[in-house]
Amino acid sequence: MTAIQVDHVKKAYGTVQALADVSFHVNSGESFGLLGPNGAGKSTLIRIISTLESPTAGEVLVSGHSAAKDAHRVRQKIGVALQETGLDPLMTGREILLLTARLFGSTAHQARNRADFLMERFQLTDVAGRHVGTYSGGMRRRLDLAVALAHEPDIVILDEPTTGLDPTNRLALWDLLRSLSQDDHKTLLMTTQYLEEADALCDRVLFIDHGHIVAEGTPRDLKREMGYSVIRFSAAGTAPDWLAAYLIGHRFDCELDGASIEIYSANPEEDVFRLGELMKAERLTMQNLEVRPPSLDDVFLHLTSGENTKGAANL
Ligand SMILES: Nc1ncnc2c1ncn2[C@@H]1O[C@H](COP(=O)(O)OP(=O)(O)OP(=O)(O)O)[C@@H](O)[C@H]1O
Ligand SMILES: [Mg+2]
Repeated sequence: MTAIQVDHVKKAYGTVQALADVSFHVNSGESFGLLGPNGAGKSTLIRIISTLESPTAGEVLVSGHSAAKDAHRVRQKIGVALQETGLDPLMTGREILLLTARLFGSTAHQARNRADFLMERFQLTDVAGRHVGTYSGGMRRRLDLAVALAHEPDIVILDEPTTGLDPTNRLALWDLLRSLSQDDHKTLLMTTQYLEEADALCDRVLFIDHGHIVAEGTPRDLKREMGYSVIRFSAAGTAPDWLAAYLIGHRFDCELDGASIEIYSANPEEDVFRLGELMKAERLTMQNLEVRPPSLDDVFLHLTSGENTKGAANL
C-alpha cells in the first residue's frame, strides 16, 4: 500500500522555484530518505506533505487522503517533527506531551499513559518535569520525536532529526528510528544532510537539488548505478596543484583534497595502471594509494551541483 503519494508538486515563493514538478511515493512500512543540499526544497516538501503549506500545483495524498482538501484526516495519520522545533521553552516535557495527546482527542487518562510510555521509551522520564528551555539538544530532539508520536500515527515525518547532535546522541537516535521502523512498523519519511544516515536508516532515498529530483533508488542501487570508485593518493617531490592540473590534462576526473589527489573513476584497475605509467614518466612515486568503492557521499557530490554542495549558494 502507498502511504504517501506526491504527484507533480510545484512550489514557488515569488520568483524562487522551491519545487519544480516533484513526483514520488512512499510505501507503507518503508523508511524513505529525502536528501539534498541546503535550499534543495526538502523542508518545503515536508511542510506540503504535512498539510502546513499548499503547493502551487500538483497533489499530495497521505493514506489516500488529499493533504490539501482533507488536512484534518491527514493530520491524524502523521506525526511530524519539523527542522525548527516549535516546543514552548517554558513548558515541561510532560506538559507538552499531555497537551499534544489531548489535542488529538485522548482522554486525560489515556494522555497520561501515553506520556509516561513515551517518556520512558525516549529516556526522558528523569527530565519530564523540567522546562524544555533547560533541555540539551539531544533531549529536545528526543522530545520532538515523542511529541510526533503522541497520537500514535502510522506515518512519522522528520525534518533533519539528527542535525546538531553529537556522534553518541546521533547513534542513539538512529537506534530509536530503527526501532520505530522495525518494531513498530511505522512508515518513516525523513530528511537528512548526512548521507551515511540515509545509508544506515533508509530503504529508499530521493535526491533533490534546486527543487528537481536528480536520483531515486535504494542506497545500494544508487551507489552501484553511479558505478565509480575513488582513487586517492599523494606524490612526493611535486606540488599537488601542479599534479592535479597535469592529471586533468590527461582527462582524469581529478580533485585536490589537501595534499592528496582524488580521482573519480568508472574503471579503477585501468586508471590505476594508467596513473602509474604517467607518474613513472614524470619520475614521481605514488604514495598512500587507496581505491575505495563509491560511498553515498560520493554519489551526492556527483549528483548535486558543485557550488551548492560546498555551501556557497542558496543558503
Ligand atoms: N517561506 C519562504 N519564502 C520564500 N522562500 C522560501 C520560503 N521557504 C523556502 N524558501 C526557499 O525555497 C528554497 C527551498 O528551501 P527549503 O527550506 O525547502 O530547502 P531545504 O532543502 O530544506 O534546505 P536546508 O537543508 O537548508 O534545510 C530555498 O531557495 C529557500 O530560500
Ligand atoms: Mg530544510
